Amino acid sequence: MAVLEIVTIPDAVLRRKARKVTAFDKEFQILVDDMVETMRAAPGVGLAAPQVGVSLRLIVVEFGSEEDEEAPKKLYIVANPEIVMASEEKVTGIEACLSVPGLVGEVERHKSIIVRGLNRQGKPIKVKAEGWLARIFQHEIDHLDGIIYTDRASRVWQPKEDEELALAD
Ligand code: NI
Repeated sequence: MAVLEIVTIPDAVLRRKARKVTAFDKEFQILVDDMVETMRAAPGVGLAAPQVGVSLRLIVVEFGSEEDEEAPKKLYIVANPEIVMASEEKVTGIEACLSVPGLVGEVERHKSIIVRGLNRQGKPIKVKAEGWLARIFQHEIDHLDGIIYTDRASRVWQPKEDEELALAD
């Protein structure tokens, strides 16, 4: 496994619509492992393949519980993710992105969503996500369509040193 370099704006790969994953071969498995390692090393709560310079529809997310900090984190690996249900209710929260260093922004997202996609073996999976987990998935799936959270933010600012940083993904 290897920690990959995270590409930052204005790299063009971050603005491209990523292509679907069609091969779940050895090369793909290495990419999955490297992305998980890169996300953990950053550290971040999520990472999309374009952020490591690979224009593929693949995301990794690792998040515990927002109510219980002691709860074990859960790792999600989703190829070709699609939001198939999104709540009408939206919530505003603060986001950051490993590809946009030094900034945070306030973004409105669906409170809960259902994501369908494929696991690392290419088998169909479904994830129900709420709150922060739903926010992370929406942020990562946006990356696959070349959308960066600052495009959707109502405001973006440079956090002060003592300001608690948002989760980065
Ligand atoms: Ni991001």
